[in-house]
Amino acid sequence: VRTRTAKKLAQRIDLNYFKHPTGIRRWRTLLSLAVPLAAVLWLVTLAASGNRTIYSSGPVSSAHAFVAAKCEVCHAREESFRAHVTDKSCLTCHDAPGHRTSPHSTSDRTPECATCHREHQGRVQLAATADKLCVDCHGDLAPHAVRGFPAGHAEFAAVRDGARDPGTIRFNHDVHNSRTLRGPNGTEPLECTTCHKPEIARLSSQKKLSSGLMSSIRYEQQCARCHPLFFDERVEAQAPHEPIAIVRPFVRQALADFVRANPQAISEPDRQGRRIPLNFPLPPEPPARSAEEWVARRTARADRLFTQHTCAYCHGDPVDNGGADGSPRFAPANLRREWMPRARFDHTPHLMVECASCHAGVEKSRRTSDVLMPAVSTCATCHAPTKGAGAQCVDCHGYHDWTNAQPVKPHFKLTDFQ
Ligand code: HEC
Ligand code: HEC
Ligand code: HEC
Ligand code: HEC
Ligand code: HEC
Ligand code: HEC
Ligand code: HEC
Ligand code: HEC
Ligand code: HEC
Ligand code: HEC
Repeated sequence: VRTRTAKKLAQRIDLNYFKHPTGIRRWRTLLSLAVPLAAVLWLVTLAASGNRTIYSSGPVSSAHAFVAAKCEVCHAREESFRAHVTDKSCLTCHDAPGHRTSPHSTSDRTPECATCHREHQGRVQLAATADKLCVDCHGDLAPHAVRGFPAGHAEFAAVRDGARDPGTIRFNHDVHNSRTLRGPNGTEPLECTTCHKPEIARLSSQKKLSSGLMSSIRYEQQCARCHPLFFDERVEAQAPHEPIAIVRPFVRQALADFVRANPQAISEPDRQGRRIPLNFPLPPEPPARSAEEWVARRTARADRLFTQHTCAYCHGDPVDNGGADGSPRFAPANLRREWMPRARFDHTPHLMVECASCHAGVEKSRRTSDVLMPAVSTCATCHAPTKGAGAQCVDCHGYHDWTNAQPVKPHFKLTDFQ
C-alpha cells in the first residue's frame, strides 16, 4: 500500500520551477514587447500618412465628416490639434447670429458653440440641442419661465388673458360659414381654404418654400366678387379699392364721362337700383339743372354711400378726415399675419387636421376681435414626450436670430481639404 506523506508530496515539487521558462511566460514577455512596438509602428505609419483621427474622442458629425481628419480647422489652426475649440474657429465657416435679444457678446451665461453643438458623438444631427441647455436660462427667466413641454411651458402669448386681435376689418366667420351663403351666381358655400390658402412657393421643381402661414387676405381676391364697390346705379364702373382721396376723383371723372355720353340723364329721375345693395338705402336724387350740378351732387352722394355703407360695411366708420384734401380715412386694416413669431410653426405637416379642430370656435365666431388661436393643450395632443410628435425645445424653436444672418467670407482654398 502506498502511503502519501506530506514529505513525499513536497519532494515531487520542483523548487526551481521559476528558473525554467514556461510557455505562458514566454508569450507574456514576447507580447509585452511586441504590442507597444506594433502600436508605436501604427502611430508612426498613421502620423506619416497625416492621419490623426486616433487621438480623437469619436467620429465627428456627418456635416463635418469632410474635415474629420483636419483637426486644426476646429482645434485652432495656429496651435496643436488638441487645442480647445473656440467659437472663433466655428465662425470661420459659419455665420451664427446670437440669440434673439441676447447677443452672444452681451450675456455671460451664453454658452459656447460647442456646448450646444456636441462634436465627436458620431454621425448625429448637430443642431439637436438638449432641452437642458435652453432650460438653464429659461427655467428662471421672468415673466414667462419655461421648463419643458407641455408641462412647464408658459401659455402661448396669443391666447393668454388680455390677448387681442388688432384687426379692424369687420369679419363674421359665422355668417360666411353658412352652407346657403349668397354669391354673385347663386348659393356659394365657402371653404376655409377659399380665403386662407397655405402659402407654398415653388422656386423650381427642386425647391419649395413654405412660409408656414396662410396667404394674406386681399379684398380683391377674397371679398370683391360678393362685395363689389359700385357707386351709382347708372355707372357700370366700380370704385378702385383705394383711400377715399383716390376714390373721389375717380368717381367724379366716371360721372363726368357718363353724363358727356348721356346728356339726357341730367333730367331723368333715379330708378330703383340694381347695382347698389338694397340694404344700402339712399334717397333718390331729383333731376339736376346742369351737367356740373349733376356730377357734383352725385359725387357727394357716392361719398356718403362709401363712408356710411359700402366701405363702412367692412371698415367701420371713418376715424378722421386726415386723408389728402381732408378726405375721410378708415382705421388701418391691421390684419395680423403672424401670431406666433417666436416659434416655427408650419401649417404644412398639420394640414391633415381639420382647421376648426385647432382653431376652435371659428365656425361660430361673429367678431374680428375673437382670438381663434390654439393653446399649449391643443399641441400637446400630439407633441408630448409620451406622444409621437417632437416635444424638445428645438422641435418648435430656433436659437439663432437668423434675421441678422450675413454671408460667410471665404477663408479656405481647395488645397486645405486635399
Ligand atoms: C468640426 C470640428 C472638429 C474637428 C474637425 C475635430 N474636432 Fe475635436 N473637438 C471638437 C469640439 C467642438 C470638441 C469639444 C470642445 C473642446 O473640448 O474643445 C472637441 C474635442 C476634442 C477632444 C477632447 C475630447 C474630450 O472629451 O475632452 C479631442 C481629444 C479631440 N477633439 C481630438 C480631435 C482630433 C484628433 C481631431 C482630428 C482627427 C479632431 N478632434 C477634429 C471639434 C472638432
Ligand atoms: C471647415 C469649415 C467648418 C468648420 C470649421 C465648422 N463647420 Fe459646421 N458645417 C460646415 C459645413 C460645410 C456644414 C454643412 C452645411 C450645410 O449643411 O448647409 C456644417 C454644418 C454645421 C451644422 C449643421 C449640421 C446639422 O446636423 O444640421 C452645425 C450646427 C455646425 N456646422 C456647427 C459648427 C460648430 C459649432 C463648429 C465649431 C465647433 C463648426 N460648425 C465648425 C463647415 C464647418
Ligand atoms: C444664455 C441664456 C439663454 C439660453 C442658453 C437660451 N436662451 Fe432663449 N432667451 C434668452 C433671453 C435673455 C431671451 C429674451 C427674453 C425676453 O426678451 O423676454 C430669450 C428669448 C427666447 C425666446 C423668445 C424669442 C423672442 O423673439 O423673444 C425663445 C423662443 C427662446 N429664447 C428659446 C430658446 C431655446 C429653444 C433655447 C435652447 C436652444 C434657448 N432659448 C437658450 C436667454 C437664453
Ligand atoms: C370669406 C373669407 C373667409 C373664410 C371663408 C374664412 N375666413 Fe378666416 N379670416 C377671414 C378674414 C377676413 C380674417 C381677418 C379678420 C378676423 O380676424 O376675423 C380671418 C381670420 C382668421 C383667423 C385669424 C384670426 C384670429 O383672431 O385668430 C383664423 C385662425 C381663421 N380666420 C381661420 C379660419 C377657418 C378655420 C376657416 C374655416 C372654418 C375660415 N377662417 C374661413 C376670412 C375668411
Ligand atoms: C361668396 C360670397 C362672399 C364672399 C366671398 C365674402 N362675403 Fe361677406 N357676406 C356675404 C353675404 C351674402 C353676406 C350677408 C349675409 C347675411 O347678412 O345674411 C355677407 C356679409 C358680410 C359682412 C356683414 C356681416 C355681419 O356681421 O352681418 C361683412 C362685414 C362681410 N361680409 C365682409 C366680408 C369680407 C371682408 C370678405 C372677404 C375677406 C367677404 N365678406 C367675403 C357674401 C360673401
Ligand atoms: C368687403 C369688405 C371691404 C369693403 C367693402 C372695402 N374694403 Fe377696404 N379693405 C378690406 C380688407 C379685407 C382690407 C385689407 C386687405 C387688403 O388690403 O386688401 C382692406 C384694406 C383697405 C385699405 C388699406 C388699408 C390698410 O391699412 O392696409 C384701404 C385704404 C381701403 N381698404 C379702403 C377702402 C375703401 C375706400 C373702400 C370703399 C370704397 C373699401 N376699402 C371697401 C375690405 C373691404
Ligand atoms: C395643428 C393646429 C392647426 C391646424 C390644423 C390649422 N392651424 Fe391655422 N394656425 C395654427 C397656429 C399655431 C397658427 C399661428 C401660426 C403663426 O403665427 O406662426 C395658425 C395661424 C393661422 C392663421 C392666421 C395667420 C395666417 O397664417 O394668416 C390662419 C388664417 C389660419 N391659421 C387658418 C387655418 C386654416 C384655414 C386651416 C385649415 C386648412 C388651419 N389654419 C389649420 C394652428 C393650426
Ligand atoms: C410643440 C411645440 C413647442 C415646444 C416643444 C416648445 N415650445 Fe416654446 N413655444 C411654442 C409656441 C407655439 C410658442 C408661442 C410663440 C409666440 O407667442 O410667438 C412658444 C413660446 C415660447 C417662449 C416665449 C414665451 C413668452 O410668451 O414670453 C419661450 C421662451 C419658449 N417657448 C421656450 C421654450 C423652451 C425653452 C422649450 C423647451 C423646454 C419650448 N419652448 C418647447 C411651441 C413650443
Ligand atoms: C394631430 C397631431 C398634431 C397636433 C395637434 C400638432 N402637431 Fe405639430 N406636428 C405633428 C406631426 C405629425 C409633425 C411632423 C413630425 C414631427 O416633426 O414630429 C409635426 C411637426 C411640427 C413641427 C415641426 C415642423 C417642421 O416642419 O419641422 C412644429 C414646430 C410643430 N409641429 C408645432 C406644433 C404646434 C405649435 C402645435 C399646436 C398649435 C402642433 N404642432 C399641433 C402633429 C401635430
Ligand atoms: C444654446 C445652444 C446653442 C448655442 C450656444 C449655439 N447654437 Fe447653433 N444652433 C442651435 C440650435 C437649437 C440650432 C437649430 C435651430 C436654429 O437654426 O436656430 C442651431 C443651428 C445652428 C446652425 C445651422 C444649422 C442648420 O440647420 O443650418 C449653425 C451653422 C450653428 N448653429 C452654428 C453655431 C455656432 C457657430 C455657434 C457659436 C457661435 C452656435 N451655433 C451656438 C443651438 C445653439
